[in-house]
Amino acid sequence: MCIVYQEIRSFSPGSGDRVRPRGHIATDAASMDLSGTWRFRYSARPDLAPEGASDVDHDDADWDDIVLPCHWVLQGRDDWGRPAYTNVQYPFPVEVPDVPDENPTGDHRLTFELPEGFVPDGGRVFLRFGGVESLCIASLNGIRVGVVRGSRLAQELDVTAQLQPGTNVMHLRVHQWSAHSYLEDQDQWWLPGVFREVELLARPAAGIDDVWLRADFDPETGEGLLIPELVADAAAFPITVALPGLGVAATYASPEEVEALPVGEVDPWSADRPTLYEAEVTNAAETRTLRVGFRRVEIVGHEWLVNGTKLRIRGVNRHEFDPDHGRVFDREKAREGLLLMKQHNINAVRTAHYPPHPEFLELTDELGFWVIDECDLETHGFVFDDWQSNPTDDVRWRDALLDRVERFFERDKNHASVICWSLGNEAGTGSNSAAMAAWLNRRDPERPVHYEPDHDGTHTDLVSRMYATVEEMADMSQGTGAPEEGAPGRNAVLAGRPMILCEYAHAMGNGAGGLSVYEEAFDTLPQWHGGFVWEWRDHGLRHTTSGGQEFNAYGGDFGEQVHDGSFVCDGMVLSDGTPTPMLAEFAAVASPIKLDVWENAMLVENRRHDGDTTDLRFVVVDEHDGRVVSEVEVDLLPVGPAGDSGIVELPDAAQPEAGQAWRTVRAELARDTAWAKRGHVVAFAQVQTHTVVESRTAKPAGEAPAIGGSGRITLGPAVFDARTGDLTSLREVALEGPRLDLWRAPTENDVLGDFPSYVDVEPAASRGAGAPGPSSADQWREAGLDRLQRRVLAVDVRQDGVRVLHRFAPAASQQSVLLELFWQMRDGELVLSADAQPSRGWKGTWPRIGLHFLLPTGLGHVEWFGTGPNESYPDSKQAAVVGRFGGDVEDLVVNYAVPQESGHRGGLRELSLPDLPLLLRADEVNGERPGFQLRAHSAHEVAAAAHPHELPTSTATHLLIDAAVHGLGSRSCGPDVRPEYQLRPRAAQWSLRFTAE
Ligand code: GAL
Repeated sequence: MCIVYQEIRSFSPGSGDRVRPRGHIATDAASMDLSGTWRFRYSARPDLAPEGASDVDHDDADWDDIVLPCHWVLQGRDDWGRPAYTNVQYPFPVEVPDVPDENPTGDHRLTFELPEGFVPDGGRVFLRFGGVESLCIASLNGIRVGVVRGSRLAQELDVTAQLQPGTNVMHLRVHQWSAHSYLEDQDQWWLPGVFREVELLARPAAGIDDVWLRADFDPETGEGLLIPELVADAAAFPITVALPGLGVAATYASPEEVEALPVGEVDPWSADRPTLYEAEVTNAAETRTLRVGFRRVEIVGHEWLVNGTKLRIRGVNRHEFDPDHGRVFDREKAREGLLLMKQHNINAVRTAHYPPHPEFLELTDELGFWVIDECDLETHGFVFDDWQSNPTDDVRWRDALLDRVERFFERDKNHASVICWSLGNEAGTGSNSAAMAAWLNRRDPERPVHYEPDHDGTHTDLVSRMYATVEEMADMSQGTGAPEEGAPGRNAVLAGRPMILCEYAHAMGNGAGGLSVYEEAFDTLPQWHGGFVWEWRDHGLRHTTSGGQEFNAYGGDFGEQVHDGSFVCDGMVLSDGTPTPMLAEFAAVASPIKLDVWENAMLVENRRHDGDTTDLRFVVVDEHDGRVVSEVEVDLLPVGPAGDSGIVELPDAAQPEAGQAWRTVRAELARDTAWAKRGHVVAFAQVQTHTVVESRTAKPAGEAPAIGGSGRITLGPAVFDARTGDLTSLREVALEGPRLDLWRAPTENDVLGDFPSYVDVEPAASRGAGAPGPSSADQWREAGLDRLQRRVLAVDVRQDGVRVLHRFAPAASQQSVLLELFWQMRDGELVLSADAQPSRGWKGTWPRIGLHFLLPTGLGHVEWFGTGPNESYPDSKQAAVVGRFGGDVEDLVVNYAVPQESGHRGGLRELSLPDLPLLLRADEVNGERPGFQLRAHSAHEVAAAAHPHELPTSTATHLLIDAAVHGLGSRSCGPDVRPEYQLRPRAAQWSLRFTAE
């Protein structure tokens, strides 16, 4: 077999003069970033790759240019292969260690000048790869220097012998597929290429090769202890370790003398207060600089503590992703993402599912995040064969896996923000994963090891689950329940350990709902420390239709043979970074400052990890019918230290003359911080203080309707069709409706049904969700909710108004809903009293009970008095407050990668459509107010479109006045809508008034 194929199918972690894994630490030694324009040749198969491409004099004149770092499939060249998305399944036949012959191969060549004096006297030069997917065969000046494997792991090769003064030629042959692709089956795009920097590092003779500054903080004494580990030849000594900010320095004359350095009192590092100290490690040859955060991570019983305080993770899973550049890192964009997280009360990141670019961890140290750093490992595709031949339990992979864990640990070990090591994701368990954990335990006795597949806790320190229901969490906490794999008594063993949800609340499309249920579980079940939402960002790739329309491409959009569709778009922010409503919901639910407001008092709970509330100001805003009448700041003694709470009196709220009075308290930043400006709202709470009971009495109807010519009925400004009873115009504006609507364009949580549902589970028979049943969308279609037929039962023109009775029912069904509409004129207003009355026999859930009106197209700005500013659903409404809001119709729905239901806003009082003009008032009936949705497309049009650009030209604006809607849930990957947030078939009532503006 030819040598190339041997490399492709090799289990080896890499070859060549590989440098022992080291930390990524700044140095004053010279380096050369080889990023920039290289020559590039794409070949669809290795055997088509140019022969002799690594030869110094190889003629690359007919090659192309490529700018590194990049993924070659994202360069807009259709002849350079295409991205491919799969979740669990491998995109090639599973026959370890072989991969397809069709193995896209990129040859990269760079001719560069080595600056004079670059190679230190007696020193070395290392070639560092930050990340290459997936196999890189590197040559320098025609000589092979090594083979690099492990796509998102750093690797250094000693190239001193091959480097030459003056002109050098580097050649990298990168194969998209290799045996190591079996270890890299993460749920993401397959994106080949040199996507992180390639650098040359000058290593001075007797330099300081590596440094680990462990920085312990003793919460009892408040003192820090620096424990240096210096990797350097004996000749490199003496070495000085200094923390200038603390006035501490020690010089060690020899390796034997290196010892821990007490630094006295220090400010500890935490995600809330990320205090860092500059450290310098110097000798005659080199100075290395890094930032040190003092903190102690420990597990005591079932508590995971940092600096003696139990952690509370409010986290997200974060992939490295950019819609144009894939996994190529951009420091500024990464920082922007982290700022957005901080602004939404996110305090933790799991680097799913591989180590990020090293600079990312500099940012998390600096801005303050608890980080679970995860190794580059996933073999999920083996699940289909019951984990047979799985690499984590196959000794042939042992070296490769131990090499991976060593490389990721050593690179990142100095970061204060990293408080836990994760072996990888969804790679099953076995002796190799146990060996990885054992290696970490010895190397870093402090930080715990995480690995979710270790459900039995055989070799990890944290108990971790994905997408568990709160019932399962409670069972685990109590040590009871029947674990799904039938390991009786397992929960009893695990209950003595700390627990996290490494993934929960699947943010795919509209959702996930139910965050506050988890929040309560995290707050009340002692072993639970919080969780990481799946996931931060959609991974749609910016793409253009043949007609030139831009869209976010997902699985299948590049013609993949097998793919997992839009499952790659499941973030709290869209592909371009736009926040979805779930992010605001998360911020409201997860705020560590909890406010409970009554009319004259407020409880402030400080649930931060540390720090009091002196950074906050508390502003009380009173509104009457949504209009601000006063805004005052209240004085509040600092609530602290963290864990404390305080009650403060609030000034009296003025009684409104009419309508409702609402009081909102906002906890705002009192000063600019590193992550948000003064005035940024950290927490809020709202309470209704007064309601003046409306004096409107059931006055007799005013104007009587009249039957006009051509089958019309007129009532005040309204015209109805005399046959159907439909409203056809109002004050000369063409309208249509209302019809009863029980359907919504399914969300992706409605569409996917692999996870269990609470629907139709016998409450007594199960503690949680039952067996998977049909998806909600299938159940709704089966019930015919998307194809209700209407029959007009009556249109009565009476002295006191127009009474209409419609029956709605699907074909082949006896179930129906009667809709009774009673139109009257009262006090110059057109009043609609509507009642929906279901027949017996409906099962399951309904997505909505709405009145559907068709309005003219092209409506612009609208205003409403109700809840906002974002949409809200029964299990996702903590971010919604009552007030007056405005927006353009097109902005009222979210532009998800897959069009779906969105934009429902509950608690409607008034809706003003100035373009018509029309003012619609919704009165409370039976303690309930409807919500509304305005959208340029019908639910059917939305449901039929797989991408936004497939939506047809709008023919109407669809106004839904929903008496009730179904929750969102998280069933695209996780629990369905909980029973308390489901909409079960039921009767509904509306009281609406229509007036001119
Ligand atoms: C998890 C997995 C993630 C992602 C998620 C669903 O099982 O760890 O990588 O696939 O499901 O989006």
